This record gives sequence, structure tokens and C-alpha cells, in this order.
Amino acid sequence: MDELIIRQPDDWHLHLRDGQMLEAVARFSARQCGRAIIMPNLVPPVTTVAAAHAYRDRVLAAVGPASSFEPLMTLYLTDQTTVAEIEQAAADPWVHAVKLYPAGATTNSDNGVTDPLAIEAVLGALERTGLPLLVHGEVVDPAVDIFDREAVFIERVLGPMLERFPGLRVVMEHITTAQAVAFVRSQGERLGATITAHHLLFNRNAMLAGGIRPHYYCLPILKREKHRQALLEAAVDPSGKFFMGTDSAPHPRGAKESACGCAGAFTAPVAVELYAQVFDSLGRLDALEAFTSRNGPRFYGLPINERRLRLQRVDQRVPEAFEAGDDQVVPFLSGEKIDWLATRLDD
Ligand code: NCD
Ligand code: ZN
Repeated sequence: MDELIIRQPDDWHLHLRDGQMLEAVARFSARQCGRAIIMPNLVPPVTTVAAAHAYRDRVLAAVGPASSFEPLMTLYLTDQTTVAEIEQAAADPWVHAVKLYPAGATTNSDNGVTDPLAIEAVLGALERTGLPLLVHGEVVDPAVDIFDREAVFIERVLGPMLERFPGLRVVMEHITTAQAVAFVRSQGERLGATITAHHLLFNRNAMLAGGIRPHYYCLPILKREKHRQALLEAAVDPSGKFFMGTDSAPHPRGAKESACGCAGAFTAPVAVELYAQVFDSLGRLDALEAFTSRNGPRFYGLPINERRLRLQRVDQRVPEAFEAGDDQVVPFLSGEKIDWLATRLDD
């Protein structure tokens, strides 16, 4: 198959940042995706409905009035988040979920939750209102090896949380392990998961063998090949519980190419192309649309997009870098060849 047309995808996990970076990166997602769940880990984080509205306005201004892109906003949970804020969020037309970062787990998570099982009143309010809880599923215990932090999070936190709140709706974000795939499958419809393109394409050798490659460094960190194989099976799983979430996370070049580089892979410029490459390599392009465009809307109770996206098998090179105000931002696979090109049919 050299060409296929799919319903327009949505990105169910996206970092757009703010200011100059937002101005530089928003257009990439707006071109490919109908909607995106916008991560709230700004500095300071988006912790209130009022702040989410203001951020939504900035995102809409960055994509421009001609774009039909819909940002789906999220709130950042802290130890101080109140039940009243959750209730307001659940009733709000623009806020679609709340995000749980264990404090210290990843970029801009210092204000996150110190003990996720302790915020019982907030979890109860989420369960009652049906507002989804999006989880960065890694423990921060320094005694736990970084490659085991997701599996240990499932044992220590997520499993007990789902047992205690049987009606809580949860998305396990950017899953990276066979344990996460098995856990998501073992639960009912109320648990879904996003998978990034980079975790489907690469194992940890890509980051560490033959040189250390900072643009492959993200959290959760790339794992060994057997875990990537489990993710590939999940991506084509007919259950509909696994869906596209790029976790595209731009940082200025200097913050990545550094003695202590930031976590995050900036995949948005070629996100759908990278997923097409994955499904093509499996001989399963027939399953791409469910993953990119149907499973997510079903979980979130939203209609699938009316617009369509064309994917063509065309050799192209990922641009080396983009300007972002006074900085540069380097896309994932910068300067490398990829096999697919996505264009919107209505363009
Ligand atoms: C994300 C970021 O940079 O905001 N980084 C990452 O490696 N994925 C945060 C996150 O989603 O963990
Ligand atoms: Zn993320």
C-alpha cells in the first residue's frame, strides 16, 4: 500500500509549551491533528480552570484564526488541588482531564503530587464526575532503577488506586513496558493508554549504543526490545484501549544537547508519518486509523473527526531544526530520511 486516507488523527498527549516555543511548535500539531490533549506542565503549571482558559486562548492565538484545531485542556494536580476545582473542571466545556505527575518524576513536575494515593478526596471527585485522570506512571523512589519505575508504579500506585476507586477513569500516558500493556489489558473499559511513536520505533540501544544521543532521551525512558515488541502488539490491539499520544515535548536545543539534558522528544512535525512507518513495518496499515483517529475519541466520548488526512509513501527528510524565537528546537530524527508524508485533504 503506497497511499491511504484516514480520518484526521488526534494527539491525546501533547506538550505545546508557552511563549516563543508555543508560537514555533503549535502549527505542526494543528496541521496534522484535529484535537490534542494539551499538557499543563508549564512554569508555573496550569492548576486552575481559569488558568486553563487563559492558556487555551494563547494556544488558539498561536495556531491562528484559520485553523480548526481544538485544544483540549487539562489541569495539573498538586497536593493543594481542591474538590471544588475538580467539580468546576468537570462542568467546564474546555477542560477534558486532569494530569497526575508524581512530584519529581519528569520535566516541570516539582509541583506535582507527593503521594498519589493520599489525594483521596480529589480522586473521589474524579470518580464521581467521570473526568479522566491522566497518569504519568513512574515512581520517583531513588532506590528504584529508572528502567523499572513504570512497572513499580503499577504495583505500588496504579493497581491499588484502581481498586480503591472502581469508577475512576484513567489514561496511562506514554506506556513503555510489557507490564503496562498487560495491566491495561487486564482492566475494563475505564483504563486506556497512549503510546508514543518513538517508543514504538526504538529501544534503548538507539539512545545509548555507539554514542549517547540526547534527542532520544525522554521519560519514561526507552526500554529494551521485548518491551517495544509488547507496545507494537498493543498498538494494533483490537480492544481499542490503546491510542495515539505523541508526548511531543520540545526543548530549546541547548537544553537537550547538554551535560545534563532535559527529557523530551519533539516529534510533532512528523508525528503521523512516524506512526505510519510503524504500522507499515508491521504490515498493518489497515489498523492505523483505529489507533490514530478512532480509539481516543471513543475513550473521551467525543465524535471522530470529519476531516481526512492523506498518507503517501514518499521519501522525505526531517528538517534539521526550527527557529523558536531566539532559540532553535531540534525535531526527533533531525535530518534523517522517513518514508511517509501526511497532508490534509482539505488543504
Ligand atoms: C515531558 C516534557 O518535557 O514536558 N518530557 C518527556 O520526556 N516526556 C514530560 C513528560 O511527559 O514526562
Ligand atoms: Zn508528556
